[in-house]
Order: sequence, then C-alpha cells, then structure tokens
Amino acid sequence: MEETATIRLGSENYVFPVITGTENEKAIDIRNLRQKTGYITFDDGYGNTGSCESLITFIDGEKGILRYRGYPIEELAESSTFIECAYVIIYGNLPTRAEMREFSAKVLRQATIHESMRNLFEGFPTNSHPMAILSALLNSLGCYYPDLSTNDRDHDLKVFDEAATLLLSKVRTIAAMSYRMKRGLPFMYPRRDLGYSQNFLHMMFSEPYHDYYPHDDVTKALDLIFLLHADHEQNCSTSTVRMVASGGANLFASVSAGVCALWGPLHGGANMAVIKMLQEIHSSGDDGSKFVEAAKTGKARLMGFGHRVYKNYDPRAKILKVNCERVLKALGLNDPLLNIALHLEDKALHDPYFIERKLYPNVDFYSGIILQAIGLPLDMFTVIFSIGRMPGWIAHWKEIAEMSKGRIHRPRQIYLGPTIRNYVPMRERPGSESLPPEL
Ligand code: CMC
Repeated sequence: MEETATIRLGSENYVFPVITGTENEKAIDIRNLRQKTGYITFDDGYGNTGSCESLITFIDGEKGILRYRGYPIEELAESSTFIECAYVIIYGNLPTRAEMREFSAKVLRQATIHESMRNLFEGFPTNSHPMAILSALLNSLGCYYPDLSTNDRDHDLKVFDEAATLLLSKVRTIAAMSYRMKRGLPFMYPRRDLGYSQNFLHMMFSEPYHDYYPHDDVTKALDLIFLLHADHEQNCSTSTVRMVASGGANLFASVSAGVCALWGPLHGGANMAVIKMLQEIHSSGDDGSKFVEAAKTGKARLMGFGHRVYKNYDPRAKILKVNCERVLKALGLNDPLLNIALHLEDKALHDPYFIERKLYPNVDFYSGIILQAIGLPLDMFTVIFSIGRMPGWIAHWKEIAEMSKGRIHRPRQIYLGPTIRNYVPMRERPGSESLPPEL
C-alpha cells in the first residue's frame, strides 16, 4: 500500500503522499498543503525541508556517507581526479576514455580569458577581497559570451557543454589573476602541458623568468581538495545557485551568486576562520584547552566543527586529515597549528558538550592547514572552495534548467510586523511643530 501522512487541523484530517528516494529517504509531499488547508509550514533554516528532487549527490549525515552520483567519496578520493569528478557530477556517469579526453581538452582550450578582461582587474583596489573579484568577474564573463548567457532557457541548454567547460576552466584563471593583481605581479598565461591543478599553481606562483614546479604531493593535495568540495547537495551556495536559476537566469549569473553565498564564515569562509582561530590560540599560548571551554559557553565558536547535515565525522575531513599529515611531511614542515588542531579535535571528541550535540570536524578543519602549507594566503582559501564547488553549481543549474515543469523558487513567510495603519503626513508627526512649513 502507498505510504501516506495524515495531518489533523481542527477537526479535519488531510492526507498527503509520501515520497521515497532511491536511498529510502522519506518526505511528506506537501505541495498542495496551502491549497487544501490554508496553512503553510514553518522551517527556519530549512532543516526539515526538501527543496527539490535531485540525482546528483547523496549524503547520509548520521552515518557520515557522501557519494557523487552513487560513487563513494572515499573511492573517488583514492582513484579519481577533480576533472573526472567534475564530469561525473555534471553528466552523471564515469566517462569513457574518449569522453574524458574530449572533456579535458575542452577545459584546457578554455583556460585563457579575453585580453580585455585584464583591464577589469585594474579597476579593483588592491585590497579587494578575491571572493568579491571572483563573483564580479564570473558574472562579467557572461558579457564576453552573450551567446552562452542569453537567459533563453532552451538556447542556454543547447550551448550548455561549452558554457560548463568554459566556467570550469576560467574560474581557475580568474582566481589566479586576482591573487597576482593584488600583489602587483604580472599575469601568467596557462600552459598546454599541465593538468588542471598544476596549471592553477603555475598561474599562481610561476614568474616570467622562472617556472614553478610544485612537489607532486602538493599538486595531488590541491586536486583532492577541489575534488572533495565538488558537490554537497543543498548547501547555502548551491541552493542559491538553484534559486537564481529557477528565475531563468543564465549559468554565469547563477554561479556568480553562488560565490557570494559561499563567502560567509558559516559556509565556505570557515576554512579561513579556522586558520585565524588556530593562529589566535597559538599566539595566546593556549594549546586549545581554554578555547574549547570558551566554545562551550558560547564565548567562542570552534570553527571547522559542526555541520547541519553531518551528525558524525564528515567523511571529507577524515580524508583531509590523513593528507594534511602527508603534505606537511613531504614539504618537511612542522606546523604548530596542526598540533593545536589535533589537540582541539581530541578534546572536543571526548567532551560531553560536543558529543551531545554531535559536533565533529568538518571539511574546513584540516583543509586550511594544507592550503597554508602550499603557500596560499588566507583570503584565497574560500576562492579555492569556489573552484572546487564549480562542478556542483553547474550540475545543479543544469538540473533546474532541464526541469520541464520547474517553478520559480519562492518561499512564503509568517509576517510578524504591524497590522494595517494609516500614513501620517510629516507635519502631523511628533516633534514636527518647530519645523519650517515646507516640510
Ligand atoms: N562550536 C561550538 N558550538 C557549536 C558549534 C561550534 N562550531 N556548532 C554548533 N554548535 C552548537 C550550537 O551553539 C548549538 O548549541 P545549543 O543547542 O546549546 O544552542 C548546537 O551546537 C546546534 O548548532 P546549530 O547552530 O543549531 O547548528 P546549525 O546546523 O544551524 O549550524 C554550522 C551548522 C556549520 C553553521 C555550525 O555548526 C557552525 O557554525 N560551525 C562552525 C562554522 C563552520 O565550520 N562552518 C563550515 C561548515 S562545513 C562547510 C560547508 O559546507 O560550508
């Protein structure tokens, strides 16, 4: 028998269907709740609200499971690359050799940006945050490709493959250029002989008179960070992309909005906040113990800990912890911040406050230490997250665009403001007696 849910309002019973996902997730389908009952649901922060049906990513937060298109994150981290995962996330399956070759070649061909876009960088003050630059330039990129960003849904879908590879490729070039502009360094062109992540490091750190060749473990760790961030279902930035896309906006505008949403410290900005926190703990002479106590009383927040969905160890954090130790070893670094992080983690995992609230390290807890070891400045950390998240944003835009019966996203609200009242002319408002008559 088909499962249903009954809601009783007053003396009336209302029956609603239950939707079951392929991993047996259940949802009460209340799409016609208001029409039937006049009521809406209230779910501040959307913790209990499914905003869509999606085929892209599965998370079981209780068990600490993450899969892209069914493939476990641990297997992808072990055997795949960021670019292959981008293909999987966007197109749904592992590519054949020929598909992979074609996709990689397209991404490589798109690596440079229009020369006149270089002038846009000159318009920004050198103390601009690279996330602001990235968002502005991704949206501007659409102006250089009007045929790929028409806001005519059918047309934008026909040219989707080109727009997708172009964005995947150029986001990395724009990111590297924002880093170099801020330092007054000459822009470095991408190279045809380098893979995705190595090319990014080349555009960041090479000089016209000196090519930068990173340690293999550094390139691998960066690629892994991109891969682990590639999608994470309905998080704040991805839901923003879907929201913007639902109004019919093109891919460029939608991912640019995603960058803005990602910037905040409770979302992608947490990787920066973790390092700032570890540095403060270090310079205060604390080993993390006092900070954990402060976090328990609400005086501080343990950044890189806790997650809306994971009520278990974030599987991405597990992978990054191991890689963090590997990269530091390969580079011969002994970072005191890693010791503080390990101590914080150990303290928190044995403390009833964190245990009761199921607060575990999330992806941002160890990624910052790796990024710092690679030589990336703090304000580029969330930019790295944006490059990594690009395949997810692109795939979610496509999912929205392909929905034949998709509706614009438009939640409702419970209004708590004043009830109707009349407009009072200025001269009749309190304190207006002494004002000149023209007011
Ligand atoms: N340190 C101390 N207490 C915490 C923390 C933390 N990091 N996170 C949650 N809590 C407490 C919170 O105060 C609340 O306590 P109480 O029940 O006594 O009021 C309880 O745990 C539940 O927290 P919440 O704020 O209701 O949880 P949420 O699901 O709304 O927020 C979160 C999730 C990730 C925003 C939050 O855990 C947080 O602020 N963490 C630190 C920032 C961070 O690391 N963000 C990166 C998230 S992963 C990357 C991404 O996907 O963006």
